[in-house]
Amino acid sequence: MTTPRIFVTRLIPEKGLEMVRGLAADYSVEVWPDPLPPAYDALLQKVQGLAGLYCLLTDRIDANLMDAIGSQVKVISQMAVGFDNIDIPAATARGIPVGNTPGVLTETTADFAWSLLMSAARRVVEGDKFTRAGKWKTWGPIDFLGPDVTGATLGIVGFGRIGQGMAKRAQGFDMRLLYFDTQRNPEAEEKYGAQYADLDTLLRESDFVTLHTVLSQETYHLMDDERLKRMKPSGILINSARGPVVDPAALYRALSNGTIAYAALDVTEPEPIRPDDPLLTLDNIIIAPHIASASFQTRNKMATMAAANLMAGLKGERLPNCVNPQVYE
Ligand code: DGY
Repeated sequence: MTTPRIFVTRLIPEKGLEMVRGLAADYSVEVWPDPLPPAYDALLQKVQGLAGLYCLLTDRIDANLMDAIGSQVKVISQMAVGFDNIDIPAATARGIPVGNTPGVLTETTADFAWSLLMSAARRVVEGDKFTRAGKWKTWGPIDFLGPDVTGATLGIVGFGRIGQGMAKRAQGFDMRLLYFDTQRNPEAEEKYGAQYADLDTLLRESDFVTLHTVLSQETYHLMDDERLKRMKPSGILINSARGPVVDPAALYRALSNGTIAYAALDVTEPEPIRPDDPLLTLDNIIIAPHIASASFQTRNKMATMAAANLMAGLKGERLPNCVNPQVYE
């Protein structure tokens, strides 16, 4: 009998890796060693006959790949809270439980989104570039002006855990809070002093708009030309959700013609952003390489949580964090 196999699609933080390697007595464990993810075709080869797949948001896990894995697979465990790279209905149809890592990255991601907001408002990255370029000649009374954050209106699109994390931070800055989601959340409204608004009102009245939605057919290019035009000309857009929630061509137009003032992104479409993307030619945008959850502690928690999902799935137990619990019905 051949030893069942586990494939980990990249080198993951140490604590998670230790847990997965601890399975080596019963499984053959292979970890993709390269810093870049396996290309789709390489992944197709690697996954054949697996008992468990430990994957990342950079891997496309579609129905075709699930067929290549085979019906013996017991679990697909993703080291991320988001799972738009995985065809969940296809996994459910095949009875494969899919795990993710909700909760552990909320504060870290909100911290980063908040730092994007602050850096965009107060032009931190531009200032740094200016200094390094040797352009700092004197204190300038009209240089690098930006809007106050304190007392401004923050519009939160997507009022889940991370959106509410932004609301919590905004309270310390005496901000007026508007939120939009598919459902109202009276408890969170009360807790954060947030007011529900339809998307148009939120865009029109907010000084800062921060995106925290999942990526779905409904949110694909949610921020298009029309919606960007509804923002204030002084408005600042923050995206730490998923790149395709914003239409990049529309964002380029909005930033270059003054429709909005500034944007700060942790996510792009595509990822990584192409070196010749016109957005990279603009000064009024900050673009980080999808690092909002990248703290030592949080990445270790994500890695161990995904390892726990993998281990439970291999034993035929219910995953502690399963995105398609219908497979247990
Ligand atoms: C996630 O987990 O979905 C984030 O985008 C990466 O941490």
